[in-house]
Amino acid sequence: MPNEQLIWMDGTLVPAADARISVFDHGLLYGDGVFEGLRIYNRRILKLRTHLDRLWNSARSIQLRIPYTEDELEQAVRQTVAANEKQNGYIRLVVTRGSGTLGINPYQCPRAFVFIIVGDIQVYPAKFYQEGLSIISSATLQKHPATLSPRVKSLNYLANVLAKLEAIAAGVEEAVLYNAQGYVTECVVDNIFAVQRRRGGQVINTPPLHAGLLEGVTRNLVIELAEQAGYEVHQNDMTRHDLYSAQEIFLTGTGAEVVPVVKVDGRSIGDGKPGAVTGELMRLYRQLIENAPED
Ligand SMILES: Cc1ncc(COP(=O)(O)O)c(C=O)c1O
Repeated sequence: MPNEQLIWMDGTLVPAADARISVFDHGLLYGDGVFEGLRIYNRRILKLRTHLDRLWNSARSIQLRIPYTEDELEQAVRQTVAANEKQNGYIRLVVTRGSGTLGINPYQCPRAFVFIIVGDIQVYPAKFYQEGLSIISSATLQKHPATLSPRVKSLNYLANVLAKLEAIAAGVEEAVLYNAQGYVTECVVDNIFAVQRRRGGQVINTPPLHAGLLEGVTRNLVIELAEQAGYEVHQNDMTRHDLYSAQEIFLTGTGAEVVPVVKVDGRSIGDGKPGAVTGELMRLYRQLIENAPED
């Protein structure tokens, strides 16, 4: 690491202490913007282009014009990783609507503002990867897709923040958000999977995109890994019943990777220990990130 963390601020690398943003930025005033979280493993950025594609889709969905090409932003990310001499770490790539007037009109913000932070992240303490997480059902509902699609990775994370507060109040690390129909969507910062009993065997299930959730890059990688390993993977609507009756539950995310869940709402899942399927997928994911496919 250089002596000081360097932040990419719309084209210029500056020391963290000098990385400032306007109080008139609509990202701050209105949560108007989009972002991505990425990982660096062995100096390689995992699925960089996939994250950039999702960023562009998020931006397009809220009519936000990113003032760079994908190639330019890819170079900016690589430059920031190199400048911070990071072998392993986390990247936060943020695009705000930019600086405007106090009014909400986004057309008063002439240019979007982009910044890139390269740092570290630990979503859950290490012991949970062996012991498994306890999670709760959140009373805060998932954002309705007709208000703001949860597929947009936007700067509006308040529903997730409220669910996280509920989790903390309950003494656990994570919370599941349900949609207005009562179906499982995802967790505060992760996607969710269940291993379910079927016809004497097992299938893996994860909520479908139409339930209202972020299309996790890790979710898609894990679906691929599971299918390659011979598991049947479904994307069927899930209720609380499907969580309570699951043999195993695990979460996936860029920050969290693959992490087992052993309790939901105080009830033990399966035999109350991280399951074999979860263990296998954790191993396969670890193998995959050792080689960190860039795309
Ligand atoms: C709400 C939410 N769901 C799911 C995920 C997992 O997505 P990914 O695997 O792309 O990190 C995240 C990650 O930040 C998230 O914030």
